[in-house]
Amino acid sequence: MLVFVPPHPLIKHWVSVLRNEQTPCPIFKNAMAELGRLLVYEASRDWLPIITGEIQSPMGVASVEFIDPREPVAIVPILRAGLALAEHAPSILPATKTYHLGVSRDEETLQPTVYLNKLPEKFPEGSRVFVVDPMLATGGTIVAALDLIKERGVDNTQIKVVCAVAAPPALQKLSEKFPGLHVYAGIIDPTVNDKGFIIPGLGDAGDRSFG
Ligand code: PRP
Repeated sequence: MLVFVPPHPLIKHWVSVLRNEQTPCPIFKNAMAELGRLLVYEASRDWLPIITGEIQSPMGVASVEFIDPREPVAIVPILRAGLALAEHAPSILPATKTYHLGVSRDEETLQPTVYLNKLPEKFPEGSRVFVVDPMLATGGTIVAALDLIKERGVDNTQIKVVCAVAAPPALQKLSEKFPGLHVYAGIIDPTVNDKGFIIPGLGDAGDRSFG
């Protein structure tokens, strides 16, 4: 498994806005969406299907490259907080489909429950899948999501996980269960407390995005 923390000052900026406990809800949600735009951009580098050809510009013939719309690209936001991080993904990635997955974590046991599953029965052959969830804390939620996606015919190497903050317990689980996976994070934090919150983290991303 590879974990990327793209060294971009705008990524650091939006993570800092998210970390600030004084950031109000609408600004928090907007910062999450901007961070997601940058992380999805970075995660799509060298990964999108390209079609090449020639085109006539007003001044001559030029070699061109477009995203191949015949190749399936999917976004899976994990509700609720993933909705904010994935907000701009469908507009920066041409020809994508969005499949929503609702997962909530029990506050006591920290076990995930899937309450909404809009994944296809089988992903189209060759699908590239971006899984978007702001927080990878204990890792229970992302592992449950990836298990469901893999059951539907997607290989680890065809999945990119995009998150705002990742913590060691989640990264360890992912590396053990999903070799070949790529994770894109805004930042990696040192620890998770006994209530399942990333420290220092940014609090409850769902509540801070949606009130
Ligand atoms: C939070 C967060 C992740 C999950 C991470 O979601 O957005 O999905 O917890 O925790 P884990 O790695 O320990 O499983 P939450 O269950 O609070 O739902 P929400 O997005 O609806 O607030």
